Amino acid sequence: MNIILIGFMGSGKTTIGKELAKAKNMEFIDTDDLIESRQGISIKEIFAVHGEPRFREIEAEVLNSLAGIDGHVISVGGGAVMRTGNMSSLKRIGTVVFLDAPLKKIISNLKGNFRPLVGNTIDEDNLKRLLDTRYPTYSQADIIVHTDNLDIKQTVEAILHSLN
Ligand code: S3P
Repeated sequence: MNIILIGFMGSGKTTIGKELAKAKNMEFIDTDDLIESRQGISIKEIFAVHGEPRFREIEAEVLNSLAGIDGHVISVGGGAVMRTGNMSSLKRIGTVVFLDAPLKKIISNLKGNFRPLVGNTIDEDNLKRLLDTRYPTYSQADIIVHTDNLDIKQTVEAILHSLN
């Protein structure tokens, strides 16, 4: 099976996912990278040229194409599980882990790392509203790991511990 990391943008899914894959001797996949390589343009351009609804369609297609893969740690774009059906497709292919990072950590990770839904200036209230909207869905994961006060290594250890 696979280990699937979900959570808000800037919660460390890619960084943690790569370390977790190393620790488990598994392959790592990032769904945003898959989208970019399959479309041949960046996520930023997809949002700018085609808009968010089209991005969500492409994202759902990419998630569906993962059915049948095994032995991977998969980092999933922060908004993907908000689309009906995506959480259950992910649960079918593995254990879904919600990386629950505090807003402070999210904001610090997002600084200097452009995301189309955030734009060039981080608006803390908007970000909090979006996180609050998504939180109940993220919480439907099989495992929730609170990353407050944990560094990368400790977060990986906490995931490994919960998986056992
Ligand atoms: C998004 C998160 C991004 C990316 C896109 C939309 C979101 O991925 O898929 O910008 O809606 O939260 P990360 O969670 O890897 O930043």
